[in-house]
Amino acid sequence: MCQREEYRRAAEFIRGRINLQPSIGLVLGSGLGALADTLARRTVLPYADIPGWPQSTVVGHHGNLVIGELEGQVVAAQQGRAHFYEGYTPQQVTFPIRVMKELGIHSLILTNAAGGVNPSYRVGDLMLLEDHINLPGLAGANPLMGPNDDQLGERFVGLAQAYDRALRLRALEVARERNIPLHSGVYFGLSGPAFETPAEIRMIRALGGDTVGMSTVHEVLVARHAGMRVMACSGVTNVAIDTVESDLETNHLEVLEAAEIIAPRLTAILKGVLRNFPT
Ligand code: HPA
Repeated sequence: MCQREEYRRAAEFIRGRINLQPSIGLVLGSGLGALADTLARRTVLPYADIPGWPQSTVVGHHGNLVIGELEGQVVAAQQGRAHFYEGYTPQQVTFPIRVMKELGIHSLILTNAAGGVNPSYRVGDLMLLEDHINLPGLAGANPLMGPNDDQLGERFVGLAQAYDRALRLRALEVARERNIPLHSGVYFGLSGPAFETPAEIRMIRALGGDTVGMSTVHEVLVARHAGMRVMACSGVTNVAIDTVESDLETNHLEVLEAAEIIAPRLTAILKGVLRNFPT
């Protein structure tokens, strides 16, 4: 079966279980999935039930696709995602994005838990992605590798405007209205699963990264390939350690605890963007 047929099969399975037409996709990262539980008229589809859908093995990722209404929009929300470090290929990691496109979704909002690399960032801060550096992608671990299916998108994808300007401006406006501090910056995407060494953090900072994480960039590539509009936001769950003199060590529990602080603010921004979604 060609890949396009697999995306269609998953989309048909989903369509057969909902009577809403979703137009916006949400990807809710580590510890940020609870928003999906608040959708009105919602249908919850466990990833395990959807043909071909990759499952997340990570604590803090629920593993459901939730379709329902939020702020006047019909959304399809991923509660958790699969990662490259779990052993999935970049193509498998981005399977859900292809299925969302097949479902008729035109815009994608991604969230991630990330380490703060910019020295001014603190735990609990939010950063809107204005750009990214995709280290694995540049080195060949890229979901667009291999034969291009012209029906899905163009061979060579422009990424100068990967993160939709109108959506970014709207998010900044919402943040200002609600007094929520919101940085704009560059997300540095890595494979993980180990956290970075202090020398790597200094390298990432020197190269222009403001936050660092293990997700998002592959999904953005595929969404842009599919012609979707993209917005993405990092929640800073920990301040990246940049010296071997530190006695601290980054850990996943810390990431999940901070996500609890981040979730309400991030939710307020997402809801504000959805309520007044720029056309
Ligand atoms: N590094 C990489 N990924 C992360 C981090 C980090 O410090 N925090 C949350 N996800």
